[in-house]
Amino acid sequence: MISRLAGKKIVLGLTGGIACYKVADLCRSLIKLGAQVQVVMTQSATQFITPVTMQALSGNVVYTDQWDARITNNMPHIDLTRDADAILIAPCSTNFIYKLAHGACDDLLSTLCIARPATLPLFIAPAMNVEMWSNAATQRNVAQVKQDGVNVFGPAAGDQACGETGMGRMLEPEQILAELEAAFQAKTLAGKRVLITAGPTFEAIDPVRGITNLSSGKMGYAIAQAAWEAGAIVTLISGPTALNTPYGVPRLQVQSAQQMHDAVMAQIGAQDIFIAVAAVADWRVANASDQKIKKTSEGDTPQLTFTPNPDILASVAALAKPPYCVGFAAESENLLAYGAAKRIKKNIPLLVGNIGHQTFGKDENELVLFDADGHQALPKADKQTLANQLITEISKRI
Ligand code: C5P
Repeated sequence: MISRLAGKKIVLGLTGGIACYKVADLCRSLIKLGAQVQVVMTQSATQFITPVTMQALSGNVVYTDQWDARITNNMPHIDLTRDADAILIAPCSTNFIYKLAHGACDDLLSTLCIARPATLPLFIAPAMNVEMWSNAATQRNVAQVKQDGVNVFGPAAGDQACGETGMGRMLEPEQILAELEAAFQAKTLAGKRVLITAGPTFEAIDPVRGITNLSSGKMGYAIAQAAWEAGAIVTLISGPTALNTPYGVPRLQVQSAQQMHDAVMAQIGAQDIFIAVAAVADWRVANASDQKIKKTSEGDTPQLTFTPNPDILASVAALAKPPYCVGFAAESENLLAYGAAKRIKKNIPLLVGNIGHQTFGKDENELVLFDADGHQALPKADKQTLANQLITEISKRI
């Protein structure tokens, strides 16, 4: 997917903190995604990483001083933000949050923030010792900057460079990028609660064997990320996959269809939208063994009997007050006919069809959306692009 940050001009401000070393990597990632990065550093930041490093990584001269003569009108605090799309301060120190909260203008970066156009978004990624973060004055200043419209990314909890542990670690560069990508996405699902099932289920034969379906989980995880980026409060209920959990999305891990059913039913009351992407096994082994089934020297094979699993989507659609339900159908042929029929059979407003063998495990897919008005194709694209398009289509319909 082409990043939303491609072509965006980001003013990247560094303040004093050991997390500056991670921002070198962040800067490189922004450039790789196609952003233009203008680095501005406070004097304290230059104690942790050199302007030369940031210049080499950003490909632009780095400004550290209000009185830099390289800007001909001597007004870097004005000029640097006039064609910018965002300011990101990372790491953002305790002192810099204090300066933002009080409108201080005693160096280039703080002056530039005050002098930014009112419509220019300002994001900060705080990084500090746990006691500094929890200090009442810091919390007062954080609350103030939030009230003033500054977006605060993190911080996270964990081990700190000082040797202490707790809240105050800067988000990792990839998490800051996820926040930044989301910041440029329209919040079409703001505040909506979205529950998503993804991946396959695994039905035990015995403690070491089982049957499963072909599903990597990529489509469901991409939809979870797209829904979070669109402002939804997302919960992902996932069968076994090898995927990283999308940033910002809590993931409940299950194995069997019954566990997935129970996890969905426990959450469904609070949901506005349910998207069933999981490839749920239709049957489970009725006579699963508690102990490993031994091979016999006679070569006997176990006789498995099956019993149907609950249809999770149908159970949700049958609730007295169901959320907006979206189902998936992986067919091997006749997608248009089967998809339309499946939507009616499942009694849901929207069904997403795809051809199974074209999508399993792949990064690309093509979808057909079926609703009461007919069908609509989403042509071949990577799964994240399709997930974004699907979320847009869902938000138009709810
Ligand atoms: O009936 P079929 O399995 O083709 O339906 C697929 C849709 O129903 C998908 O959205 C899938 O997640 C959902 N489903 C379910 N529980 C099942 C079987 C399918 O939620 N037991």
